[in-house]
Amino acid sequence: MATAMPHQSFFKRFFSPDVAVDLGTANTLIYTHDNGVVLNQPSVVCFQKNASAGQERVAAVGKEAKQLLGRVPGNLEAVRPMRHGVIANFAAAEHMIRQFVDMSSTVPRFGRRASFTICVPAGATQVERRAIREAATAAGAWKVNLIGESLASAVGAGLPVSEATGSMVVDIGGGTTEVGVIALGGMAYSGSIRVGGDQFDLAIVNYVRNVYGVVIGDQTAEHVKKTIGTAIRDVPTERINATGRSLDDGLPRTVQLTNQDIADAIVSPLAQVIGAVKTALECAPPELVTDIAHSGIVLTGGGSLLANLDRWLASQLGLDVRVADEPLTCAVRGAGAASTLLHSHAFD
Ligand SMILES: Nc1ncnc2c1ncn2[C@@H]1O[C@H](COP(=O)(O)OP(=O)(O)OP(=O)(O)O)[C@@H](O)[C@H]1O
Ligand SMILES: [Mg+2]
Repeated sequence: MATAMPHQSFFKRFFSPDVAVDLGTANTLIYTHDNGVVLNQPSVVCFQKNASAGQERVAAVGKEAKQLLGRVPGNLEAVRPMRHGVIANFAAAEHMIRQFVDMSSTVPRFGRRASFTICVPAGATQVERRAIREAATAAGAWKVNLIGESLASAVGAGLPVSEATGSMVVDIGGGTTEVGVIALGGMAYSGSIRVGGDQFDLAIVNYVRNVYGVVIGDQTAEHVKKTIGTAIRDVPTERINATGRSLDDGLPRTVQLTNQDIADAIVSPLAQVIGAVKTALECAPPELVTDIAHSGIVLTGGGSLLANLDRWLASQLGLDVRVADEPLTCAVRGAGAASTLLHSHAFD
């Protein structure tokens, strides 16, 4: 016999299946209570222009579109709609969200529309927040709640967010680093800097140009970072070849990079990350800082996967630092679970 559901809950489930969305600079993830993470794709959309008709249509999104970044023929344009965690290209963001929602089948058939909880960086302005709401609504959301990315990440990392004890989470994404101090289900401090994995990649591009006289692409820099990147210089040497264009003669040239090269290249963005953590420790209420001294700091976001970043931060701060389990999905899983754990004032 089927179990009778309370009328209210049936009504809510039928008309507003809860969907959590992490609309990130690098990756977009969609999560539902019933199915977990149902979509995890690069935040990239590729348009095909039809010059004679003056129109453009979406040719590819996600992984397929990312492969086209920096290598598209004339009538195609690959766009990253998000920059520093907020919308940089509204039309592209709307198309991208719509396609991702279709791909994940989260907005069901028969006209039912989902209620979205979307992660936003603490530093997003009211205008940037409104743009995210409007893009999601245009893409089919029935209702949009916004939640701070570090609060969502803390929930997803399993930190005791509802307790009086303070916890610190540092989410290092593609375009932002968010530092949050959380206690009693709310943010006691939140800070956001516009530095993330993209700025690490850019620092690698600049380093290879200055030291080796070769211009490599962003994607090559990201590949090098993920393969041999390290936050600490004093580690056994690893090597990788990277091919770019020589500044001397404009011809393709391959250089061999070491992991020490990468540590040197990313000194400046790393210093900005640690600066943000130190500011948080200076500004958060003293009792909570005492708690953090005992419990340590948890890292989330893709940037936290940089080898030895936890060790480096721990040595600089004199605190325990650990990387959360599945750091790339913490924010979206946390946003999905937050509505059952947190008060409504945690949402915007
Ligand atoms: N193994 C790795 N080592 C170093 N960096 C990595 C690794 N894996 C992923 N990254 C980086 O993590 C970043 C993406 O992380 P994430 O998906 O958390 O960002 P995002 O949520 O899209 O961005 P944001 O939160 O800033 O809007 C990219 O810059 C990527 O290069
Ligand atoms: Mg993120």
